[in-house]
Parts: sequence; structure tokens; C-alpha cells
Amino acid sequence: MDNRPIGIFDSGIGGLTVLKELMEQFPNEKLIYFGDTARIPYGTKSKEAVIKYSFQCIRFLLSKNVKTIIIACNTASAVALEPALKEFDLPILGVVKSGSKAAVKETQNDKIGVIGTTGTINSYAYQREIRTISPSAEVIGQACPLFVQIVEDGWEDTEVAKLTAEKYLIDMKEHDVDTLVLGCTHYPILRYTLKKVLGEEVKLINPAYETAKESLELLTERKLLTESSDIHEVEFYVSDDAEKFRRIGGNMLNRNIKSVKKIEIEGL
Ligand code: DGL
Repeated sequence: MDNRPIGIFDSGIGGLTVLKELMEQFPNEKLIYFGDTARIPYGTKSKEAVIKYSFQCIRFLLSKNVKTIIIACNTASAVALEPALKEFDLPILGVVKSGSKAAVKETQNDKIGVIGTTGTINSYAYQREIRTISPSAEVIGQACPLFVQIVEDGWEDTEVAKLTAEKYLIDMKEHDVDTLVLGCTHYPILRYTLKKVLGEEVKLINPAYETAKESLELLTERKLLTESSDIHEVEFYVSDDAEKFRRIGGNMLNRNIKSVKKIEIEGL
């Protein structure tokens, strides 16, 4: 049993989809969320930059005495999880493995699509992970950088979103994928548009949900679950504009966020 908090980080607000699942699965755990809002997007940055930023996020969470860290960002999971596991001595989970496992379980025709930021797709992390679990799988990766901005602007159900999706998903249709991994925190918000373009029968995998399930398994296996039966307020930290995060984050989580603190991440 371990009553210390669980740390979660993302480049911004998108990782709240993972946090939401964790809040449901771990009602008695203390959760600390850090959104690196000053440096979002990670998806267009170099691998070196994303590793550096991720290590700083991890050091910040370690200063809060966390017992484990969940990287809620796909780009950071894709490029920084392996280096982080070598650098830091605590359990760290990313979203790539869980999303890949779920996709392999779902597919019927062994044709899996993965969409994500340029950083995620170019890292081949999902493509590699899926092929490791299922060597016979055909994996089609597609970077969809414009999707993040479309979601940030609240345009997810517009004609612009649909036309953009049609263009990005041409290969997925040609290859007849039956399962699509939404390999970016923002993409589950586009699920209706994606279904419209790909067809209702294509299964959409949300790694956020799968990651929360895997976290429960990890904490149980390592005997790290809390023994507390209290309900704790999530602690929120950001690297820029705490009030904006409080407002938009509250909408996303469907609950009132009481306080968000801005911290200095650069020197860590
Ligand atoms: N959170 C990022 C991801 O899941 C999307 C936003 C960004 O580019 O930082 O890849």
C-alpha cells in the first residue's frame, strides 16, 4: 500500500481525457496533473526537445513525491518513455502500449490505422508496438497535424474538420483499415467526424481509456494502491495561464476546478 500521489502530465489540456478515466478508476487516489501549456504543441517539436520537456515535467512531479507517473501525451509517450524509464527510478506508463494492445484485440482483418501528431507518427512508436504484439498486422500511420488546431478552436463538427479528415484518411480507406488508433489526446473529440468519413463500422481506439485500465493493473501488481478511502481534490499545475486552464479544463472534465497553480518549469 502506498498513499503517495499519482502524477500525470501532458503538453496541455488534452491529457485531461486520461485524467478523467483515472478519476473514475481511482476515486481514492491523490492525483496531480501538470499541463505544460507554455510549450504546447509537443507534436511539432524535435525528439530532443520533447525528451527534455518530458524530463522536466517528470522532475516537477517527483518534487511532489509521486509514486508513479502516467505520460498522458502521445507524442511524449512515443519519444520520451524509453529514455525516461532509463533515467528515473519509478514506474512510468505511457499511452502507446495500451492503445496498441487494444487495437490488436479489436481488429478483425489485421489492418490497423494510427493517426497522431507528426512527432508521434515519425517516431514509429505505435507502428513498432503493434507489430511487436501482432507481427502479421498491417499498420498504416498518418500524421494529422491540423486536427490539434481544429479541436483547439472548437471546430470538430464542422465542414472544415470533415474535409480535412477526408484528405488525411485517404490511405486508411484505400487500405481498408477496420480499426483506427486515435494516437493524440485531441482526436477523441473528433470521433463523430472521423466516423462520418470512415464509416460507422471502423472501430476507434481511445488510448486514454485503455491506459487508465493498464494503470490499475500496474498499481495492483506492484502493491502501490492507496489504502485511503477519502476522496481527494485533484491538484492542477500548468506552466502558463492558470485561469484559462481552469476554465477550459473544467468544461472538459465537466466539473468545477477550484484552483490551478502556475509553476516555473524551465529551470528544472
Ligand atoms: N498532447 C499531444 C499528443 O497527444 C497533442 C498536442 C501537442 O502536440 O502537444 O500527442
